[in-house]
Amino acid sequence: MTIKVPKVIDELESKIVNTLKLSRFKNQLVGKGYVTGLKAVTYLLNIPKPTIFMSKGASINLCESVSQFGLNKLLIVTDQALYDTGLLDPVLEQLNLSGMKYSLFTEVEPDPTFTVVESGLRKYRQQNCDSVMAIGGGSSIDAAKVIALAASNEVSPRDLVGILKGKKPSAPFFAIPTTAGTGSEATIGAVISDSITHKKELVIDTKIVPLVAALDPDLMKGLPPAITAATGMDALTHLVESYLSGMANEESDYYSRSGIQMIFENLPKVYKRGNNAKAREKMALASYYGGLTINIAGLGYVHAFAHQLGAKYKLPHG
Ligand SMILES: NC(=O)c1ccc[n+]([C@@H]2O[C@H](COP(=O)([O-])OP(=O)(O)OC[C@H]3O[C@@H](n4cnc5c(N)ncnc54)[C@H](O)[C@@H]3O)[C@@H](O)[C@H]2O)c1
Ligand SMILES: [Fe+2]
Repeated sequence: MTIKVPKVIDELESKIVNTLKLSRFKNQLVGKGYVTGLKAVTYLLNIPKPTIFMSKGASINLCESVSQFGLNKLLIVTDQALYDTGLLDPVLEQLNLSGMKYSLFTEVEPDPTFTVVESGLRKYRQQNCDSVMAIGGGSSIDAAKVIALAASNEVSPRDLVGILKGKKPSAPFFAIPTTAGTGSEATIGAVISDSITHKKELVIDTKIVPLVAALDPDLMKGLPPAITAATGMDALTHLVESYLSGMANEESDYYSRSGIQMIFENLPKVYKRGNNAKAREKMALASYYGGLTINIAGLGYVHAFAHQLGAKYKLPHG
């Protein structure tokens, strides 16, 4: 028996098939251009690394050093929940002691949006800041990176989406991660969400790597187990995906292998006992290695999925 399909359905089907074919072709073209651009950045350009302070007291050492850069005023970029825990108090106290002026911007939310970044940029300008310090997880660091680059280039944050869109160096930028984590303190990327399209946009630029970063276990001891686990899985995924990447080399393999080992040994420890400083320190280093290896070898399908799901459903990145 043959079923007679109405003509209109036939037409509709061929329309859908053609549209899908076209969009697949377009995606492949855009994707190829994007990957070629990324490869060019990682092969041809010298990717800077931040100067790193490590271990207990690293964030205090970083504040002492920042006061010697001859800067006028820092914009400190963080999130309100973190600020309310009092975790930033010793860092701010050290800046006061060193005579370093600052203005606080606490509006960052997980998966920061362009609206948040634009608000931070306005504050930077109103307060006559000339430099930026991020204290927080990947969300604060990414927002701060884009504020610092947009400020020096006198452009809107949206103009920086893409590869190497900043013409001038970023405003002096410092980072203190409080999760381990994104490794954003090392990467040439910043992820900013668009609240209208529900897409995560990428700013990729060698100029957004911080000048100095502090890997301080003291700032991570209070990280709740659920965030410890999610952020630790994010770091592990960076290390595994870049290890499997076709762009991996001997240097990135070194970071990946050592980082993966540190996470297997230490993530269960910090999940069970958050204030294990030694294990927190190893997690911070593994996360930093994750950032270094992404810069060389990039990521894979897990992140491609995670970014879409995170932007649409506000799922934690890790
Ligand atoms: N730039 C990059 O290379 C890169 C890489 C991976 C992910 N990302 C981006 O980073 C973002 C995720 O960052 P994240 O996973 O670090 O989380 P986050 O910065 O969004 O923070 C998550 C939550 O943890 C809290 N928190 C942070 N540190 C804390 C501490 N020490 N104690 C108690 N609470 C604390 C924050 O207040 C927040 O509520 C996503 O937007 C993701 O797309 C960027
Ligand atoms: Fe990630």
